[in-house]
Amino acid sequence: MLVLGIESSCDETGVALYDTDGGLLAHQLHTQMAMHAEYGGVVPELASRDHIRRAIPLTEACLAEAGKTLADLDAIAYTQGPGLGGALLVGASVANALAFGLNIPVLGVHHLEGHLLSPLLAEPKPAFPFLALLVSGGHTQLMAVRGVGDYQILGETLDDAAGEAFDKTAKLLGLPYPGGPLLSRLAEEGDPARFTLPRPMLNSGDLDMSFSGLKTAVLTLSKQVADADGHIDEQTRKDICRAFQEAIVEVLTKKSLAALKQCGMKRLVVAGGVGANKQLRAALDEAARRRRFEVFYPPLALCTDNGAMIAFAGAMRLRHAQAPGSYSIKPRWDLSALPPA
Ligand code: KG4
Ligand code: ZN
Repeated sequence: MLVLGIESSCDETGVALYDTDGGLLAHQLHTQMAMHAEYGGVVPELASRDHIRRAIPLTEACLAEAGKTLADLDAIAYTQGPGLGGALLVGASVANALAFGLNIPVLGVHHLEGHLLSPLLAEPKPAFPFLALLVSGGHTQLMAVRGVGDYQILGETLDDAAGEAFDKTAKLLGLPYPGGPLLSRLAEEGDPARFTLPRPMLNSGDLDMSFSGLKTAVLTLSKQVADADGHIDEQTRKDICRAFQEAIVEVLTKKSLAALKQCGMKRLVVAGGVGANKQLRAALDEAARRRRFEVFYPPLALCTDNGAMIAFAGAMRLRHAQAPGSYSIKPRWDLSALPPA
């Protein structure tokens, strides 16, 4: 079965073709980063309009890349939520209109299920059950995954998501949008021994996390080290980035270890944009060697939002595909409310 996947929940239009026999055949992505950079963050209305412009050309490019035509499609999967309402509506409308014209079924996919299952697109892939550390711009959750659609949230952030903390901290350090990846690059050149920031909720005894206080700690530190004009020299800024990253990586690593222990699992799967973070990967790899568990990541290009994970999650749920027609989006949608595949 050949499934077209369309992702449009935020600021990336992603389209992909997944074949249940042949695997991922093609994926195309357009990021709106440059467009939103001017405003210092995602402007929802601009995001929706750009998804409209990109969805069909990206679909055509995908089909060409795979040597397929629209007539070859068996189903269309689209991100139904969570995400920006207008942006989601574009993907949902395009998917339903195309499917209606082709007389094939459609399927609304949960964006986080897409992230969660994306490590199954890499080799070697993890077997079920596994513990998932989902670290994106909007969510930070530890989940016991026993099968597709069988998700139990063990712990989560009580305030900012890890990616959100990266982005907000980057902004207050004067870094251009989107700050997370850039902060992480600067951190690589920072001195880990110069500053120490708090590790929020590290010893809370549960698997919940909190990152908004870390951002405030960075603000306080920045004021302390700035000169009379409020200026911070380049190396000091890198050292602050490093201290921030050290704190967040330690919290994510230790909470993941505690969760593995709690549910007696030996496989950890990392998904979501922050899963691209090199220091986090190094810390988890090191912990996996010492504690003898396995750790899996999606291919680097599929860590952040993309169509491949939506096509793949759709392919896993083909049983739920329906005739196109009336459709709804779910800007807020609880992952643990999903039915089994
Ligand atoms: O999963 P994703 O593409 O979108 C959501 O579903 O939210 O994640 C985007 C988030 C952003 O907050 C971004 O700053 C963060 O992932 N991110 C990173 C890195 N690459 C992306 N954070 C830290 N280090 C990175 N290398
Ligand atoms: Zn995402």
